[in-house]
Amino acid sequence: MNAVPSKGTGTHVTENEVALELTILVGTMTGTAQLVAQELELRLDDGETRVYTKLMDGQDASVFDGGGLFLICTSTYGQGDVPDNAKALYEDLKAKRPELSQLRYGVFGLGDRTYAETFNFGGKRFDELLTELGAQRIGERVKHDASSGVLPEEFASEWGAEWLKLARRAAEQAA
Ligand SMILES: Cc1cc2nc3c(=O)[nH]c(=O)nc-3n(C[C@H](O)[C@H](O)[C@H](O)COP(=O)(O)O)c2cc1C
Repeated sequence: MNAVPSKGTGTHVTENEVALELTILVGTMTGTAQLVAQELELRLDDGETRVYTKLMDGQDASVFDGGGLFLICTSTYGQGDVPDNAKALYEDLKAKRPELSQLRYGVFGLGDRTYAETFNFGGKRFDELLTELGAQRIGERVKHDASSGVLPEEFASEWGAEWLKLARRAAEQAA
């Protein structure tokens, strides 16, 4: 079947369906966020949705060129900072301030409530910046708590399917 790329919406419109493309951007220090992304890719990548996972290493603001659907999957370090591999992307967005009205995104944040003052600030920082730049968030920002005993990849697996329904609805409206 011929797929017609629909620039900026993250969708390929075909005769009968809208195939969604989702890019998961991973900010991580010790790999937990990457496990979450792998689980989400396994769970969500099917005939109707294509999932691409990218570590944030070496990325800059151009990763969002053309908009589309993204999931920011990031932990928190230092004094509530984004992880080292996310810093270049975060700082480039802050410096260049691209207009991101074609971007739809979700945030799966990883943190630990033991750090009460800065709990889940990595995800929060990305969320606030992307909203400032005109992007549209899909659903609520997730705040996983490492001290809760709930495995983040298990939590993500359940949450992801519901989040994708919201994202699909938004993509169909935009197509
Ligand atoms: C040195 C250090 C600093 C941390 N600082 C914070 C913090 O400020 N806020 C927070 O919510 N979690 C903080 N965390 C918890 C991590 O974000 C959490 O364990 C996360 O699941 C790690 O994911 P990752 O392996 O993908 O980096 C910190 C963890 C470490 C080891």
